[in-house]
Amino acid sequence: MESKELKKKYIEFFKKKGHKNIVNASLIPENDPTVLFTTAGMHPLVPFLLGEKHPQGKRLVNVQKCIRTSDIEEVGDDCHLTFFEMLGNWSLGDYFKEEMVEMSYEFLIDVLKLDKERIGISCFKGDKDAGKDTVSAEKWGALGINKERIAFLPKSENWWESPGETGPCGPDSEMFFYIRKKVPKKFDVEDKNWVEIWNDVFMEYNKNQNGKYEKLKQQNVDTGMGVERTVAILNGYDNVYEIDTLKPLMDKVNKLSKKNDVRSKRIVVDHLRAAVFILNEKVEPGNLEQGYVLRRLIRRAIRHGKLLGINHRFCKDVVDEVFKVSDYKFNKKFILNEIKKEEEKFDRSLNQGMRIFEKESKGLKIVSGKLAFTLFASYGFPLEMTREMAKEKGLKVDEKGFEKAFEEHQKLSRTATAGRFKSGLADSSEMTTKLHTATHLLLQALKEVLHDENIMQKGSNITPERLRLDFNFPRKVERDELDKIEDKVNEQIKKKLEVKFEEMSLEEAKKKGVKGAFEHKYGEKVKVYSIGSYSKELCAGPHVSSLKELGKFKIKKEESSSSGVRRIKAKLL
Ligand code: SER
Repeated sequence: MESKELKKKYIEFFKKKGHKNIVNASLIPENDPTVLFTTAGMHPLVPFLLGEKHPQGKRLVNVQKCIRTSDIEEVGDDCHLTFFEMLGNWSLGDYFKEEMVEMSYEFLIDVLKLDKERIGISCFKGDKDAGKDTVSAEKWGALGINKERIAFLPKSENWWESPGETGPCGPDSEMFFYIRKKVPKKFDVEDKNWVEIWNDVFMEYNKNQNGKYEKLKQQNVDTGMGVERTVAILNGYDNVYEIDTLKPLMDKVNKLSKKNDVRSKRIVVDHLRAAVFILNEKVEPGNLEQGYVLRRLIRRAIRHGKLLGINHRFCKDVVDEVFKVSDYKFNKKFILNEIKKEEEKFDRSLNQGMRIFEKESKGLKIVSGKLAFTLFASYGFPLEMTREMAKEKGLKVDEKGFEKAFEEHQKLSRTATAGRFKSGLADSSEMTTKLHTATHLLLQALKEVLHDENIMQKGSNITPERLRLDFNFPRKVERDELDKIEDKVNEQIKKKLEVKFEEMSLEEAKKKGVKGAFEHKYGEKVKVYSIGSYSKELCAGPHVSSLKELGKFKIKKEESSSSGVRRIKAKLL
């Protein structure tokens, strides 16, 4: 079965059951500073899940294009993709668990003709926030799924939350298919041969700003089925790269390289395919936000091309195949031109950079921070690329040293434009670094003055002229409060506190109660920056080393950014 056919079958099935087919929304979320890309079909539907009336009714269905960078490390395995399509249907306060489970069963078994004996099911086990989902489990059982293949699992497995910190959420029931012939008696989520294909989320809660789950006024259903995975399963393939929308891309890369490095080939295919869809939203490679993700995808694909021994500029060859196999309209001229420019830009320095890396890292256990910084600043190697190159040789990167080199470089060069380092920096000049540190102070002062520990950064953008911080807060911040916030920040600056960072795993940081945007991170080691004992935040840096460099802090503007999100612009004088 081809992707097109599965999509058609799904839409037709739910249309027959009274659903309206809604648009496939943009990959760039509108009015949502919390995430860079649309990561699921429910994303554009948040206001309606919360209770607003949808113009097309209470039963909706669509195909949604999605980008997920949180699983980037897994790409290259059999089933994780950066870009994928998701089939979904929604009940906005209409049908709930029993009816949804029944429709899921009917679609999988009667329409797609999957073997019932190869289906495994997981349901929510229950905890202090919500009860055990016996309703779904009993329905699955009544429909004929063997009890042993229905497992009850905790929140970590069977609970779905929107990508931001707050929003609609709830327990889910997931459907898995066993990809080998000899099916075990019991369903076991740890056995990778059980591949998840569909997720029925029962969204009857809202996670509020205090992290508490409150009941929504309506019971919703939000489901998601990965197109690529399901097509692979329906055809009996053991990986997604065999399906109609990916195989021609793999064939092309196989023609370009005779090497037997399947992972690199899959990364080239996955990243360039994702890049085409991001470019199709008119995003250009750059040093900020979506543009920076795009740049890293293209550059990583090019490096893996080199590893495969491909010695010419090959991106176009693969991109042309993406155009051929997809049923989307593309702005081909723009996409090819941008890819070509980025490839030329990077190609010139990549070979040199790789040579330097080979030479300098010989005989070492650790790649020095200085080398990593040279590769970053002079050859355009994102840090994670150096980290990956090092890993291939069994080496580590001295990331603290990298940070130090970065900071020293700024002190030497006021005009350096090494590009957005990470986390919202528009350039690397001294002023943006200072403003970045001031942003941490501001966030902490907001929590204190507004008496709200749950205030979180929802977006940040820094230019050499000003900082801009978006944060969750339900009302306008009054001028007298802004004055107090300014005073607090300036009080800390006067104390000349030291700024330091520690490296730890994401788990350790979470345990220590460090606040920060934990989702959508590239790489697993994180940095925790502290300013004296005043503030502690998950952040990639860079920062000044002492507050004595900062000067006077002044808030220029406070305004609404989007629903429940405020925006402050501030300066250092
Ligand atoms: N939102 C859920 C998911 O992404 C179901 O669509 O899995």
